[in-house]
Amino acid sequence: MTNQLIFPSTFLWGAATAAYQIEGAATEGGRTPSIWDTFSHTPGLTKLGHTGDVACDHYHRFREDIKLMTEMGLKSYRFSLSWPRIQPNGSGRANPEGVDFYQRLVDDLLENGIEPWVTLYHWDLPQPLQDAGGWPARDTAERFAEYAALSHHVLGDRVRYWTTLNEPWCSAFLGYGSGAHAPGLSDPEAAVKAGHHLMLGHGLAVQAIRDVRPDHELGITLNLYAVSPQQDTPADVDAARRIDGLANRFFLDPILRGEYPADVVEDLAKVTDFGHVREGDMEIISTPLSVLGINYYSRHVVAAPIEGVEPEPYWRAPSNWPGSEQVRFVTRGVPVTDMNWEIDAPGLVEVLERVHREYPEVPLYITENGAAFVDEVVDGEVDDVDRVAYFDAHLRACHTAIEAGVPLRGYFAWSLMDNFEWAWGYTKRFGMIHVDYDSQLRTPKSSARWYADVIRRNGLAAQ
Ligand code: FCB
Repeated sequence: MTNQLIFPSTFLWGAATAAYQIEGAATEGGRTPSIWDTFSHTPGLTKLGHTGDVACDHYHRFREDIKLMTEMGLKSYRFSLSWPRIQPNGSGRANPEGVDFYQRLVDDLLENGIEPWVTLYHWDLPQPLQDAGGWPARDTAERFAEYAALSHHVLGDRVRYWTTLNEPWCSAFLGYGSGAHAPGLSDPEAAVKAGHHLMLGHGLAVQAIRDVRPDHELGITLNLYAVSPQQDTPADVDAARRIDGLANRFFLDPILRGEYPADVVEDLAKVTDFGHVREGDMEIISTPLSVLGINYYSRHVVAAPIEGVEPEPYWRAPSNWPGSEQVRFVTRGVPVTDMNWEIDAPGLVEVLERVHREYPEVPLYITENGAAFVDEVVDGEVDDVDRVAYFDAHLRACHTAIEAGVPLRGYFAWSLMDNFEWAWGYTKRFGMIHVDYDSQLRTPKSSARWYADVIRRNGLAAQ
């Protein structure tokens, strides 16, 4: 028997999506290709060659989707702007058709009493900016700030919540480190530089927006992990320190404290001398935030390299973990999702309490949390009990953190609906709403009804 749990009365209940994962209409309305169009159209890089060309066709069906959000009682909807739809080619004036699409979307949300929450960058860099060097090039940070100001100029009269970047770790280390994500490059030094320029772009964007509207809620979303050593040995503990350093502190420390963690700089010594960091950068990067978004999915359990086995030289092994390629990621045999990610709700409490304890206080939001499972449509229904259990456990974790004094202000489920799961294409389903990609039929799953009930009672029922 679990207890009924009630959340603070102002708690913001939402769901999240991202432009390239749902919009489709890739060549419509003046949109030009992003790195994800190029990547997904390159044979062999996404599962089954899937692309976001059509995705959930949300570009044409957004009103229907907002109706479904209304039925769920969502208080807020977090979505991202497609940079190449707003600013084709990544520079210059705004594209009126792109602006018009987002204004209609936002107006329809507001008319339905749903607070729009905009993410400016959820991974779809305009291809011409990649051709000019992408995130490893400093200029991309300036371009991003320009695009952020432009977007805020056309939507800032009706959108109050702004996230600069979604998960810069993925953009930097999956995009330029292992190459598992667009643009698909494997160059450890470029990955570290990309991480820096992403954060620089974030800081410049916050400054540009804050100059215009100091009252707006501005932040960044980081994908933070609980990290633990497989065993309590000095070598495994050091492996955990390295991975925590790259996954979490590489971003948290510059953004919230204005400095790179010294141990991480040391771990990266063979990869880069950090010569790309210029005077004044760290002040820009640590421009105070009004909110910090956290995406939480799982825990990393890691171990030291096996003795006697030579690690691949870093320049030969494409890795997400520059300078720490030799660390082993191990599984503990606990239940996993369809992504093979361990289900670990206590890890969420750990992450929230850690951020609260170790960094200057800032209001926190879970901007993504959710799980992929193999869903079956039976008689037009999807009874996704595993997803409900996942959400339930993680919301209980959120409640525990709030009770412990963590300033957690809201929660966004990932995702509103099934969508293009990046390199996995349409083979992984994270949605509370099932999407039939042939007919574009939407079917709310059990989790959608369950979440609607959570929102209605502002908490979890006793079980
Ligand atoms: C996050 C991404 C999101 C989605 C989920 C499953 O890393 O921000 O777009 O892919 O993972």
